[in-house]
Amino acid sequence: MGKHLITWSVSQRICKAASWMSPRLASRHTSEACYNQSLPGMLESTKRCRYYTTQAQPENLLLKHLKARIKSNGPMPVADYMKEVLTNAYSGYYMHKDVFGKDGDFITSPEVSQMFGEMLGVWVVNEWMNNYNGQTLQLVELGPGRGTLADDMLRVFCQFPSIKDKISLHLVEVSPALGQMQASKLTGKDTSEVEEGDSDCVGAYRNATSKYGIDVSWYRSLADVPQGLSCFIAHEFLDALPIHKFQKTEAGWREVLVDEDPGNPDALRFVLAHGKTPASVALLQVESEEQRNHIEVCPSAGLTVQEICQRIQSDGGMALLADYGHSGEKGDTFRAFKRHKLHEDPLSEPGSADLTADVDFSYLKSFTNADVDVFGPVTQEKYLINMGIGVRLQALLQKSSQEHWPSLISGFKMLTSPDQMGERFKFMSILGKTGSSYKPAGFVELNYGDGQGSS
Ligand SMILES: C[S@@+](CC[C@H](N)C(=O)[O-])C[C@H]1O[C@@H](n2cnc3c(N)ncnc32)[C@H](O)[C@@H]1O
Repeated sequence: MGKHLITWSVSQRICKAASWMSPRLASRHTSEACYNQSLPGMLESTKRCRYYTTQAQPENLLLKHLKARIKSNGPMPVADYMKEVLTNAYSGYYMHKDVFGKDGDFITSPEVSQMFGEMLGVWVVNEWMNNYNGQTLQLVELGPGRGTLADDMLRVFCQFPSIKDKISLHLVEVSPALGQMQASKLTGKDTSEVEEGDSDCVGAYRNATSKYGIDVSWYRSLADVPQGLSCFIAHEFLDALPIHKFQKTEAGWREVLVDEDPGNPDALRFVLAHGKTPASVALLQVESEEQRNHIEVCPSAGLTVQEICQRIQSDGGMALLADYGHSGEKGDTFRAFKRHKLHEDPLSEPGSADLTADVDFSYLKSFTNADVDVFGPVTQEKYLINMGIGVRLQALLQKSSQEHWPSLISGFKMLTSPDQMGERFKFMSILGKTGSSYKPAGFVELNYGDGQGSS
């Protein structure tokens, strides 16, 4: 199928979706945008695209656990530290509370505006219609947070009955608390009515039917999701996966480890490994012309991409990966955010702050294979504009009262402005090999003029 025809189809689908408006969604957007504007520290959080608050922790059980681990095994890789802090079953950062929104810790794009999820929903519809029309499709979302992105996408599918009848939603979520929130949001029921339990779907820990009539299942890992034609979505998921850190020294590259601080029994500190470590042997590949003094490697992200590619290769499908990131030029990006700003030390008060590292898209690409096509990364601004977010904004403005206009416009600006979320966030897509010049929507310029697109 030619590129021009494809972009025209996208524009038609966007116009169709844009002409519809949900008052309930509009009010969600309005209230979010209101508190976005009123909270302090927004400038800092906007740079990072997360908004943080913290809760007092009388005794840091996680710190005790980490120190006990270090005492028995010696200093640990940063990857082990990050994994424990974020997803430890008892006191991991994500595991037992809502970390998003006004009473939580930070804001992500789907929480900023309904337009974000709608654009991704139209993307799924478009790619399915162009490449797999009529076939049953699994929408697999990795790390769905509050379930807001999935909810906004399902509402788009309701505008396209042909896909609505063919699609099921599969959520990969490790946090029991967030899994319950997702269930509640997607079913519209109280969390007690959608408890975890036996499931008909092998590997799933919960099954439900969404308020839109689309079936939803939850899994702890991608490996548990059944094989089949799938669309994989990962938004701000890969940045939460554990990284190994390496530093250049006069003696060569050394892995950065986390150790107890001998000068302070309540603190941890970074140290350098004396020699090679399993990770430095297995993961570190330094080019002779390497200019950086620090390198971060996220094998879990690479393996996730590898698994997605293998599934697309065997069952067909597509993937959309979105995160803040770079193409192999950045080194020391590991950081923590707390109280709405950068935390000076990611090792202090573990579990009370979010840990994150920029995604290296060039590293991810090295895990793709010759049987898939890879597109991007392109900036979030470019992707959303190419998807027609401007048309959607116009439709929302036309259909809402003037009091809602400022929040709609500020949401649009926050998502697309280069000095806010537009530049730092990138989109990469993976499709099964088509053997043609086909490009997915969002990665092709959109032109509404005469129904003909241009690249
Ligand atoms: C930063 S949040 C992003 C949430 C959502 N995608 C959004 O943009 O609003 C990261 C999400 O990934 C989940 N998560 C983190 N590590 C995970 C893992 N190893 N397996 C599955 N989910 C994980 C968290 O519980 C959370 O839902």
